[in-house]
This record gives sequence, C-alpha cells and structure tokens, in this order.
Amino acid sequence: VHGGAETSTQSPLRAARASDAAALVTLLDELGYPRPSVAEAADRLRALLADEDHLVLVAEVDQSVVGVLHAHYCVELALRPFVEILALIVTVAHRGAGLGGALTEAVVEWARGKHVDEVWVRARLERVGAPAFYGRHGFGLDKQQNVFVRKLAVEDGRPEA
Ligand SMILES: CC(C)(COP(=O)(O)OP(=O)(O)OC[C@H]1O[C@@H](n2cnc3c(N)ncnc32)[C@H](O)[C@@H]1OP(=O)(O)O)[C@@H](O)C(=O)NCCC(=O)NCCS
Repeated sequence: VHGGAETSTQSPLRAARASDAAALVTLLDELGYPRPSVAEAADRLRALLADEDHLVLVAEVDQSVVGVLHAHYCVELALRPFVEILALIVTVAHRGAGLGGALTEAVVEWARGKHVDEVWVRARLERVGAPAFYGRHGFGLDKQQNVFVRKLAVEDGRPEA
C-alpha cells in the first residue's frame, strides 16, 4: 500500500550486528532514550546477540539502518513464557512504508518458533500512535501499570558494568 519495502523483492530485514551500534544509537536518540556511547551500545548489542532469548532485527534501506526491533523471550515464575517487544523504532523519514509492520510480524514469527502463546509490548502513554499501530497487528490493550524505580548510586555512571 505504501510502496517502498513492500514492492522490494529483497527483504529489508536482517539480524543486527555489533557494527550496527552507531546507527542504533542515532535511532534511540530520535525517540528520546538516554543516548549511550557507541562503545556502550556495541557492548549491549554483543550481549544480546549472544543470547538466544533475545532477538534484534534491523530494517535496512539503501544499506542504511532505518529501523530496529528488540524482543525478549521472557520466563517468569508466575507466568507462562511470553515474548515481549522491548524496542521498535523506525526513523521518521521511513515511516509509513511497512517497515514497522514487517518488524512486528517478524517478531510474531519468532514467538511462534518459541512456542509462546502471547506477544507483549508496553508502550508509553505519550506514544499516541502506538495503540492503533499495534491494534492493526492484532494486539489488544491488556492492562495499564505504574513503574517504580529506585535509583542507585554508581561510581562511573554505568550500572551494568
Ligand atoms: C510505530 C512505528 C514503529 C511504525 O513504523 P512504520 O514503519 O511507520 O510502520 P508501518 O509503515 O508498518 O505502519 C505505519 C502505519 O501508520 C500509517 N502511516 C502512514 N504514513 C505514516 C507516517 N509517515 N508515519 C507514521 N505512520 C504512518 C500507515 O497507515 C500504517 O498503517 P497500516 O499498517 O494500516 O498501513 C513508528 O511509527 C515509530 O518508530 N514510532 C515511534 C516509536 C514508537 O512509537 N514505537 C512503538 C511504541 S513501543
């Protein structure tokens, strides 16, 4: 419907690589996440790529990364395992071409392969387009929740180090 990726014969999606770190930092920045250094983003990516419970896909147009999806296969004591989308971003200039939809359907396929019966995504209330976007992909609103955070003092500003 929107041309672009949908008319291309080659899939615009591929697994992320550690070398995508700089492009991913730019994408995260666009959405207002705290901007990590490229080295820190590469460290995080390497950890995720080595873990089969995590999926990181990128959408590429003309050899540049214009979208990213990160999903996690979650095992919790109290719940049946499920897959959660932790990040989904398509850069503004490439929205409406089906890339976000293709990334979403790719994670649903991955979730089927993990034999889970639910895919979750938590969207901030200010992402006003998110309910309609996910609704079109079969997601229904399940619950709203509060997030409580206790801040810890860290010496070098990198709590995960
Ligand atoms: C949500 C998001 C990933 C969708 O990416 P996308 O590549 O534009 O997705 P698609 O092209 O598959 O679908 C976009 C839908 O918005 C509509 N749309 C059309 N032009 C658009 C545009 N310029 N910008 C946004 N949406 C547009 C389309 O109608 C399309 O609906 P359809 O599925 O009925 O065709 C993207 O808008 C984004 O990164 N938003 C900011 C981050 C965010 O909100 N993430 C999700 C919350 S966690």
